[in-house]
Amino acid sequence: MSKEIVLSGIRSTGNLHLGNYYGALRKFVKIQDDYDCRFFIADLHALTTNPNPADLHANVKKILAEYLAAGIDPDKATIFIQSDVPEVAEMYLLLNMHVGIGELMRTTSFKDKARKALGLSAPAEGDDDEAFEKQIIGSETNKRVNAGLLTYPTLMAVDILIQKATKVPVGKDQLQHLELTRRFARRFNSFYNVDYFAEPYDFDFGGAPVKVPGLDGSGKMGKSEGNCIYLIDEPKALRKKVMRAVTDEGPKEPNSPMAEPVANLFSLLELTSTPEVVKHYRDAYADCSIRYGDLKKQLAEDILAVTTPIRERINDILADEDYLRRVVKQGAEKARESAAKTLADVRQIMGIRKF
Ligand code: ADP
Ligand code: TRP
Repeated sequence: MSKEIVLSGIRSTGNLHLGNYYGALRKFVKIQDDYDCRFFIADLHALTTNPNPADLHANVKKILAEYLAAGIDPDKATIFIQSDVPEVAEMYLLLNMHVGIGELMRTTSFKDKARKALGLSAPAEGDDDEAFEKQIIGSETNKRVNAGLLTYPTLMAVDILIQKATKVPVGKDQLQHLELTRRFARRFNSFYNVDYFAEPYDFDFGGAPVKVPGLDGSGKMGKSEGNCIYLIDEPKALRKKVMRAVTDEGPKEPNSPMAEPVANLFSLLELTSTPEVVKHYRDAYADCSIRYGDLKKQLAEDILAVTTPIRERINDILADEDYLRRVVKQGAEKARESAAKTLADVRQIMGIRKF
């Protein structure tokens, strides 16, 4: 029996951090034997925020090297670059004929990104959607909300449907896009009276989802939060970041409850250290003998033990252009093969036929 298809993409907008590693990459590596995995770099999606061309290319290369360095094996999983599959662009045009601009405008990610593009602050309670929509329509030429941002979910749906993926590991913020993908698939099937697309779902890795906190005291580690430890961070920079992590004045009484910034450090320690080390510092917190400086030093070294081999591999891989070219070519061939089949079917179903 053929393996179920798992697909996930990451926008090429910067380096990967510990959150991406524990929340996504490490899990991808674990499942690559059991599923038909396809991991790609969403450079067309990155274009929606108009990066400068040199940055875009450098970022694609970085993420590719990071995928490989983290252990994704190009002979097991298909690793490819979205723009290497032109079938995606054509099917994006076709699927857009069945997507409503209203439903796209109501998407949370669109509202957030449109606000950013217009230079508006985050929405307040009771904000007037109508006024916001007027601003989008009436926005000046130098601050426009491009159509690519609006149709971002169509492109993502195409990424998934064109590969016939049914399991899609994504972060929470992407679940709405997945919901839209299912809706578009159902709509296509029902409009053409076919049973063509299967509905894709979030991939459940089992167990509690990992949330890697940032070093700034609250919330999760994230690119836009500016609180990241990157896989590529040099030891000196990494140690500095960890030593600067927010803490508090320390427990005053035995068994005090732990404030969020300190709990976050323990969460990071749990991910990267041994149970004995974690216990040692938990006990020290409980009996008030803890010194945060020691905890941070330990944490920095334990994180480095995880990231150093990865960083070294990233740098080796980045230097090996031939290898990168081979990986990308092999991935593109595999990805295009499935994409071309789906696109041919879709054209046929929609009535685009050869004479
Ligand atoms: P960012 O928040 O830095 O922009 P993305 O949204 O591009 O990261 O996330 C890519 C993948 O990494 C997703 O699968 C997401 O769930 C995972 N991820 C990102 N940050 C974290 C985090 N702090 N903890 C756990 N997983 C994360
Ligand atoms: N939109 C996703 C993100 O920002 C990236 C992405 C693009 C994706 N196409 C996809 C993820 C298809 C999963 C499947 O994280």
